[in-house]
Amino acid sequence: MSKGHEKIETNVSLMAILIAVAISFGGIAEIVPLMYQAEAIEPLPGVEPYPPLQLAGRDIYVREGCYNCHSQMVRTLRFETERYGHYSLAGESVYDRPFQWGSKRTGPDLARVGGRYSDDWHRVHLLNPRDVVPESNMPGYPWLETTGIDGQRLAAKMRTLKTLGDPYRDEDIANAADAVAGKTEMDALIAYLQGLGSNAPKAGDAAAGGGD
Ligand code: HEC
Repeated sequence: MSKGHEKIETNVSLMAILIAVAISFGGIAEIVPLMYQAEAIEPLPGVEPYPPLQLAGRDIYVREGCYNCHSQMVRTLRFETERYGHYSLAGESVYDRPFQWGSKRTGPDLARVGGRYSDDWHRVHLLNPRDVVPESNMPGYPWLETTGIDGQRLAAKMRTLKTLGDPYRDEDIANAADAVAGKTEMDALIAYLQGLGSNAPKAGDAAAGGGD
């Protein structure tokens, strides 16, 4: 055995450091390409950064932990696409930070829920789900109805998202506070839900690779 080799094998600290170095090369080789790949994902046609009210609604969705019971990812399985519509594509979620795909489904997947119900249905359902679905175990969220939205904070958030690369125009940001003036958190959450899946390919759309 060479001198150098022996030195490494008999010195635990040196060995640990060199193992860490060796593993980090493997890590770099795997992780760095992923970072660039994420940037290469193009938004699907029509997918744009969330308008102010929907953006506020998305934050409420995250704050209230809706993801603990709802995924937003239709899988590439026939029984999923027949129930929900076209399977989810990465290009739908480019402006989701963080994305809400998830896998926990106490309730149904919500990736395609936009337009499935009226705003009024959502309002009643979010206030007390059992008023419309008697067997539901979803909690009610009555406080959303009485809480307003801080437009200045929302504008600041849009500015931050812009620095991260979301193509918000300056006028979008300047108008954000007006766009949510007088709206409640309930309005925002419903606007967000109604937008979900609006740019998804239609089920069976061959251009996007089909699905069923
Ligand atoms: C404890 C689990 C749980 C949580 C938390 C939860 N839900 Fe639900 N959700 C359900 C269940 C179960 C159903 C199916 C019964 C029903 O419609 O109420 C459901 C149904 C829904 C539906 C109707 C979906 C459809 O396709 O019929 C929507 C919309 C919805 N939830 C939105 C939300 C939002 C928004 C939040 C957060 C504010 C939330 N849920 C939090 C369990 C949950």
